[in-house]
Amino acid sequence: MIDAIRDYGFLYWDRFLRSRLFMVLLRPVIITLITLNSIITRRRMSHENGLVVRGQVKILDNVDLPPNGFFTPGKVFPCRLRHASVSFLDDAALAVRGASVKFADEAVDSPFDMLMNNGNSTPFWDMDTFFQFTLARIRGGRAHLIDYFKRNPRCYMNVRDALRRDPSSFANLYYYSQIPLRFIAEDAVERYAKFRLIPWDETPERDGIPDEDDLQTPWFQEAKPNERRGRNYLKDAYRRRLDKQPVRYRFQIQILNWRDSDDRDYELSSLYPWNEDECPWRDLAEVIITEALDDAEGNECLFSLRHLPAAVLQTIPARNFRDGPSIDYLRLAGWWPRRARLLMYRLRGQPPRIPDERSETTEAYADETVSTVESDDVYRRPCLPQRDTPERREERREQLEQARGIYQYLHGYIETEPTGEQPAWHPPPWYRGVFRIYEPNPGDRKTVPIPLPPFVRELPSGERYSRVVQGRIYGTLAVSYLALALSRFENWLAKRHGLDIYRFLLWGFRDKPLTMAHWREDAEFARQRLAGVNPRIIRRFTEIPANFPVTDATLAGLLNAGETLASAMEKRRLYWCNYGVLEGISVKPGRYLAHPIALFYVNGEGRLMPIAIQLFQRPEDGPIFTPKDDPGLWLAVKTFTQSADAQVHEVVEHLLRTHLIIELFGVAMRRTLPEAHPINALLSPHLADTMAVNTSARTALLAPGGPIDSTMAVGSKGAFELMGRVWHDHRILDSQDVPLDLKERGVDDVEALPDYPWRDDALKLWAVVQRYVAAMVEHFYASDEDVAEDDELQAFHAEIRDPRGGNVRDMPGGEVGFRTRDELSGFLTRVVYTASAGHAAVNNGQYDCFGFIPNVPGALYRPPPRDKDLTWSERDLERALPDLRTASTQILMVRLLSRRTEIPIGRYAPAFFAGTQSVLPIVTRFRRDLHALSLEIEARNLGREVPYTYLDPKQVPQSIVT
Ligand SMILES: [Fe+2]
Repeated sequence: MIDAIRDYGFLYWDRFLRSRLFMVLLRPVIITLITLNSIITRRRMSHENGLVVRGQVKILDNVDLPPNGFFTPGKVFPCRLRHASVSFLDDAALAVRGASVKFADEAVDSPFDMLMNNGNSTPFWDMDTFFQFTLARIRGGRAHLIDYFKRNPRCYMNVRDALRRDPSSFANLYYYSQIPLRFIAEDAVERYAKFRLIPWDETPERDGIPDEDDLQTPWFQEAKPNERRGRNYLKDAYRRRLDKQPVRYRFQIQILNWRDSDDRDYELSSLYPWNEDECPWRDLAEVIITEALDDAEGNECLFSLRHLPAAVLQTIPARNFRDGPSIDYLRLAGWWPRRARLLMYRLRGQPPRIPDERSETTEAYADETVSTVESDDVYRRPCLPQRDTPERREERREQLEQARGIYQYLHGYIETEPTGEQPAWHPPPWYRGVFRIYEPNPGDRKTVPIPLPPFVRELPSGERYSRVVQGRIYGTLAVSYLALALSRFENWLAKRHGLDIYRFLLWGFRDKPLTMAHWREDAEFARQRLAGVNPRIIRRFTEIPANFPVTDATLAGLLNAGETLASAMEKRRLYWCNYGVLEGISVKPGRYLAHPIALFYVNGEGRLMPIAIQLFQRPEDGPIFTPKDDPGLWLAVKTFTQSADAQVHEVVEHLLRTHLIIELFGVAMRRTLPEAHPINALLSPHLADTMAVNTSARTALLAPGGPIDSTMAVGSKGAFELMGRVWHDHRILDSQDVPLDLKERGVDDVEALPDYPWRDDALKLWAVVQRYVAAMVEHFYASDEDVAEDDELQAFHAEIRDPRGGNVRDMPGGEVGFRTRDELSGFLTRVVYTASAGHAAVNNGQYDCFGFIPNVPGALYRPPPRDKDLTWSERDLERALPDLRTASTQILMVRLLSRRTEIPIGRYAPAFFAGTQSVLPIVTRFRRDLHALSLEIEARNLGREVPYTYLDPKQVPQSIVT
């Protein structure tokens, strides 16, 4: 309980951290610290070691920019430019260099200052990481920087790209503004801009690029021991160059025309450069430098982000301190430490010039002089094992050996009676009598009837929920409990009775289930087969089965004029749902469950309608009901069908086919693919938290007395039986393949079955995922041989197939393993699709469908009708529905399960693929495809009576839990 309160509290703390208020409060704290530092040291916060020069900026005559009020062709500004090393009072250090341009020959005032550095992206991407980075530098130890880089490999890559060693001149380097600004032209189109300063002759940047040795330990930035040049050599060289001739630069601009599909987290983050094909650099101005200022005058010079031509360039408003533009929000306040420094010059004089001589000890970090950490320990680009060095291959093997100790499969079997044998694993007491846990020893199997899908033996600590996820779960539960309590109080006050009780049980909830308004109608009943939470049961009806003796007479008046069963079948107008899998499954005492066969007809308007339902698999157990029967009776028959559908949905389609299968792949991956393997990098975000949620499902949701046991007809025992039955003779992988599944069920004909939103959206989303996964596979595997030679990948395949491992029988490639890139990407598409979209389709709508109890009761408490002469009054139905307590549990459960996602598919963290730059175009295209599909689905939904949103990529979680 205390844990729950703590985690719930943490959720609010996390929300506060993500609020604008926190950002506003944090800024003065950081700025005060930096200002105090400036006052005490009389030094700049960074870029201490530099020189200021002057000259002019001329906007080019042929500048290619939308008309705006500042960058007018031909316009000339006097200017100042400051070159500096970002850190170290030594020009020979391994450091980032900067260039700041002021469009005025003044110490402070200016219409436009632009601050730029080497490298086209920053070593931090928001106020949060800036703070962490600054703290690591202030604390001074290499260990802190290394630690920061390990946490943020993408930032590390950016630093490596930006560091320069021994350039011959400041004038040879490329300087980038990195952080985008809003660009406002006269046409008011939404645009963003970045700037850079490069040599006039556009010589490619080769000067000062450090060698690989240097980059192996970039935290050793001091000058090399054999360095003979003075500590001011770079500044002195620049002055000498100016004595001979002016220095010319090219000032360039990059414009991003904002598209709806662009993503703020990527495009407006300084962590990623813009694609230069889409946003080419355009020449903007020529900068000619003619004269150097002396040190004293240069020190008085101040460059600030505040100096922007506001009508044309603006900083982007930040949402919170983890939003990319928050860096500029902080930089704007950098004005104060700069002013404080100038004030201190006046009071205490300027700092002395940096001495030319170098000493052995100055500037060295105090903590260590020899690094045991190398670049590869901090950042490792995922690569195939056959491309890795022998030492690293050994490391990979060691890592997997450890992982195999932590991640172990557990193979459970269902037993109808406890065997009395002592299980090898010690399960919690409730497991006994429900199913037994065996060591994966095939010899034991003859004693047990049905295996369950394997799952993780014990939840590894690294797989536990984060506190944010845990807090969100408690948060949803707490709010739902409160809403239910309020609703029940309202019911009691208003003395509600009849079916109204269920309607008003939702009184305290802000949003109401979609199905509440039309749940009695036939059209709504049919709609839920195509756009509900269980859209993959329906199949084309191609022949009349022996156990379902429907005839033309049964359907008289229900088909279009002149239509017969035979002709309707011929025209692909008949579809059916068969719940035969439920026959013989245990049902809790006092509850009733049918195993119906329901027939549907696509009428003249192209709309699916129910026309006949037989509640049992054997015709002698009950008649075929039709809409022509007594309306109360027909409603009862539909309700029994809904309840049967719910058992198949929750246990088979939701739990087994998404949750448990994904866990199985997750365990195999952790055991066989090291973190440095590209397929591990690709799958990890989609498998996040799945083992944790499934462990909760097994120990809480499915436990005797748990929500499934107390609300569903099958209860805990029946649920395990059902799961085992389907797993036993189930083709796991093929059923996850959308085009194959549609074809196999005969529902792929758009003309015959025009309105099937799940099919339409799932097909498109499948194609998007497929294209993305194929691109990733092709990126890492140059040929089919690469696939065949990847022994880690083949071990992954073998692990999934192994009866003692994942025990999946329909792996592509069979005993041989993955043979081609197509085979591999086909498999991975199924995994990524199932963990995200496949799960979303059966998960997101649970509250919509099961939240309103009369629409789908988890169980019914009166026997199903077996006679057409019966009548079922509203009162009879009411008596058959769950009591208020059970109904409340059902609502709580589905409310919790259908929480809205916080991380939609495609939103990867900066550490995705260890920040590898080369996968970015693939990710960007994936996100654009997802966005385009989202817009398409939104537009389609505008024209629908009931929108279908469960597969809108915005609402599809990245993994089963997120
Ligand atoms: Fe789920």
